[in-house]
Amino acid sequence: MSAPTSEVITIEEHPIHADQDLGSIALVTINRPNKLNALNAEVMTGIKAMVKWVESTPHVRVVVLTGAQPNAPPEGKRAKPNAFVAGADITEFVGKKSEDIRIMFANNAVEALWNLSKPTIAMVDGFALGGGCEVACSCDIRIASTRSKFGTPEVNLGLIPGYGATQRLANLVGYGKTMEMIFTGEMIGAEEAHRVGLVNQVCEPSELLESTMAMARLIGSKSSNTLRVGKATVRAALDVGLTEGVAIEAEAFASLFDSKDKEVGVQAFINRATPEWQHE
Ligand code: COA
Repeated sequence: MSAPTSEVITIEEHPIHADQDLGSIALVTINRPNKLNALNAEVMTGIKAMVKWVESTPHVRVVVLTGAQPNAPPEGKRAKPNAFVAGADITEFVGKKSEDIRIMFANNAVEALWNLSKPTIAMVDGFALGGGCEVACSCDIRIASTRSKFGTPEVNLGLIPGYGATQRLANLVGYGKTMEMIFTGEMIGAEEAHRVGLVNQVCEPSELLESTMAMARLIGSKSSNTLRVGKATVRAALDVGLTEGVAIEAEAFASLFDSKDKEVGVQAFINRATPEWQHE
């Protein structure tokens, strides 16, 4: 199955290692820069197709998700600002009623992204607002440029977030900051986003791609089986209390002792060798 690149979703594969075949990183770009990469139906369909492809393509080990850079403006016009994603496409909300939205938001692409079993990194350069902030929160890790801005401005549309911010943003930044963001609709800059735990790392725009790809290569060089179990275990714990969460972890930890890669890793440590993961 080839990568489902489309007009609004481009997918580039980058090798994890220059000389050895260790699989690839999928660099996925949401490509509607003239609309600040807003999530319309076509983008959402494209994200779901991408997730399906990544899930069924073993050599893709990590996903980096980003927004397209602005196009050069036409003569005499101002340039559009940089954006990761400036939210759901608001024009698609006109005239919609609850029954339309229930259908539109059921099994949506943000949930598909969240449920991807492989590591995901949001590479944010510019506005990450509303659904854009939520797409970023649906990734495992967020790396942002200094010029990025995060926010949940739905209150200004008479709405609340609908792609999971009440849960996933709150898990990252806590109750108080989530309420402040949802109630005020105000944006926060990258440094504040870092300070409150929304962003893992902040760097200059010129260093963003390399810093993100370095993180993706590092993660991609580990056993994909171990990463999958680690992600599933942390996720499972989000849905249950501490005692059950620790029990889930204990079982997942024990189960890895039957995996090939536990023996590969332990033997590599003892022999001071580089592990050659079987990904099983
Ligand atoms: N949905 C649809 N179109 C959007 C959009 C969105 N969420 N966000 C931006 N756009 C479009 C604008 O309508 C504009 O299109 P046009 O040039 O054809 O008129 C283009 O993207 C550029 O945006 P613009 O508003 O002109 O840029 P700006 O620099 O003046 O302001 C923002 C940038 C991000 C502050 C502003 O675009 C904004 O507030 N966007 C909406 C954010 C939001 O409420 N998101 C949550 C949605 S649920």
